[in-house]
Amino acid sequence: MTQCALRGPAVTFAANPFEIPPDEALVYESDALIVIDNGRITAFGAFDSTRDALAPGTRVAHYPDKLISAALIDTHVHYPQLPIIASYGEQLLAWLERYVFPAERRLEDPAYAARLAGTFLDSLLSSGTTTAAVYCTVHPQSVDAFFTESARRNTRMIAGKVLMDRNAPEWLRDDVTTGHDDSAALIARWHGNGRQLYAVTPRFAPTSTEAQLEAAGALLARDETLFLQTHLLENKAEEAWVKTLFPQRASYLDVYDHAGLVRPRSIFGHAVHATEGDFDRCHHAGCAVAHCPASNLFLGSGHFPLFDALRRDRPVKVGLGSDVAGGNTLSMLKVAADGYKVAQILGHSLHPVQALWLATAGAAEALGLERHIGRIAAGMEADLVVFDPHATPVQRLRTAQAENIDDVLFSLLLLGDERSVAATYVAGDRVFSRETGMRSGM
Ligand code: GUN
Ligand code: ZN
Repeated sequence: MTQCALRGPAVTFAANPFEIPPDEALVYESDALIVIDNGRITAFGAFDSTRDALAPGTRVAHYPDKLISAALIDTHVHYPQLPIIASYGEQLLAWLERYVFPAERRLEDPAYAARLAGTFLDSLLSSGTTTAAVYCTVHPQSVDAFFTESARRNTRMIAGKVLMDRNAPEWLRDDVTTGHDDSAALIARWHGNGRQLYAVTPRFAPTSTEAQLEAAGALLARDETLFLQTHLLENKAEEAWVKTLFPQRASYLDVYDHAGLVRPRSIFGHAVHATEGDFDRCHHAGCAVAHCPASNLFLGSGHFPLFDALRRDRPVKVGLGSDVAGGNTLSMLKVAADGYKVAQILGHSLHPVQALWLATAGAAEALGLERHIGRIAAGMEADLVVFDPHATPVQRLRTAQAENIDDVLFSLLLLGDERSVAATYVAGDRVFSRETGMRSGM
């Protein structure tokens, strides 16, 4: 690929806005230039001081009234559940039985899985999200379908085959041996293949025997670059069930710890009911929590104590997750808005710069990918989103009132959704434009 460039107002991060004042952590350039070569950013700065980095004849996409950011990251989402998004009336355990398991059964069919993976990925891209940690189903073909479609789009994705050898319908179960061996084959095929990354994916403690959790730990022990994703302490009935299934363990987190699953690159979804002891363990282990406020509200799971998790003397790594279809939106702007409201209920103000961090650079850090994605800086992969803070008549009115960049960001987060995405770039290629749709050939 030849050099290309974007020009326009841009935001990114110089530091963590939970560690220093948000306004010092944010980098805002009112007229920035981002130069891209071979999928990577080679120069970023004020247009006037960076224009020398442009080779003669380079095409510059100019977005004077938009806002460019590193693309959004979703640290917890289920692609097989997209068709049952917004399904009525249940909390977690009944919702799984009534809606989720039948939906996941359909991915037995590889052609269906391929179509669904394509629709899911295109929906992420048109929402400004270019990286996600994604649950497939128990079927290995659901993982092949997902990574094949992701590789076609060149997106950096983390995904894995769900492990589930008990407490699920017989038609959705693997066993210790097939779960292990199918995962090992998928790891060999996909982990580090282009931009694709593998996550060992036991669904949650209730649907795996201790032997299966140990087999997951054995897979992880072979390669420290692998990810682990699972659910933790999402719902009170789930927590009580885990106590009866694993009476010998000190806590829900200890079930995973005992199997060697609590480590860097482990991503625990929800942790709504985590204790101080859990957060302390996560801090020392270097694992991450996916904060899924839209889902926690939709399923009535509770309010994740974000500011406790991030306590300055022992911060836990946290990124935002949509948890579709527990969550009712793929838009990380809407997830961030729900995160703001949940923080309000718990007596905290989530600053817009902090919220954007949790959906970009902070999420990248939680996933251990901070050297590749999440910020606009020379050397980073050029995954970018171009936001339109004037996308609707109401946003136009509100943005016209904004007094500073924080206010523009806050109203973008609270009013924004898929309509606020003017364009999305993956490794320097514009894959989505609101005017022309998805890049043809996808
Ligand atoms: N716990 C176990 N499986 C799931 C799932 O698919 N979604 C959510 N939100 N929680 C879970
Ligand atoms: Zn989930």
